[in-house]
Amino acid sequence: MTKMLHIIASPRDEASHSNTLAKAYIEARKAADPSLEVETLHLWKANLPEFDGDEAAAKMTFFGVGEMDDTRKSAWDQVVEITEQFTSADEYAFAVPMWNGGVPYKLKQYIDIITQPGLTFGFEPERGYFGLLENKKAAVFYTAGVFAPGADAKYGTDYQSTYLTWWLNTIGIEDIDTVRLQPSLLTPTPEDDQNAAIDRAITLAQK
Ligand SMILES: Cc1cc2nc3c(=O)[nH]c(=O)nc-3n(C[C@H](O)[C@H](O)[C@H](O)COP(=O)(O)O)c2cc1C
Repeated sequence: MTKMLHIIASPRDEASHSNTLAKAYIEARKAADPSLEVETLHLWKANLPEFDGDEAAAKMTFFGVGEMDDTRKSAWDQVVEITEQFTSADEYAFAVPMWNGGVPYKLKQYIDIITQPGLTFGFEPERGYFGLLENKKAAVFYTAGVFAPGADAKYGTDYQSTYLTWWLNTIGIEDIDTVRLQPSLLTPTPEDDQNAAIDRAITLAQK
């Protein structure tokens, strides 16, 4: 059995272009592999904990800063639980709109919660950061209203896929496929563009 975690970073529910692509991909993956088990994590509805003082202090104890006391331990246990949901999946489908050049802050919050030493990455002074995840793959569905790869710089810069790819690589996920619907707004043919992107998502699932 293969387990997929479907991670939704858009709050726009049914109106979400990125999640429309992710859903088309997942449906096609399920048709190709009926044993695929899909768990959905809607980041805007998940009540993610703040990664604040106790969590940050708990993380820093792994770098030799401070002690793991009871309060920090309880904050850390919650971090571990959320991280283990992520690491228990074999593959990922991310729906990711561009927000102000980057990723929506709920996704960044999630990344800050689950990017943990000994759980998703390691660090050694000489070697630097290294990922602890192995044999995982990710499909990422990117949208942007006006930005498009190759577009004039006045339409923005891509800190969205560059950041997410860097982070996935950092935790050990190298097998990454992407489908873009960019731009989703600044186009004379939004519907045709969306349909073409859905087709690309389905083709990816059948690969
Ligand atoms: C808060 C916010 C910030 C946005 N920032 C950008 C941006 O920097 N560049 C861009 O091209 N589009 C931007 N957009 C437009 C969205 O990326 C675009 O509408 C996208 O299709 C939304 O994806 P979704 O339908 O999955 O939510 C922004 C939208 C919102 C709500």
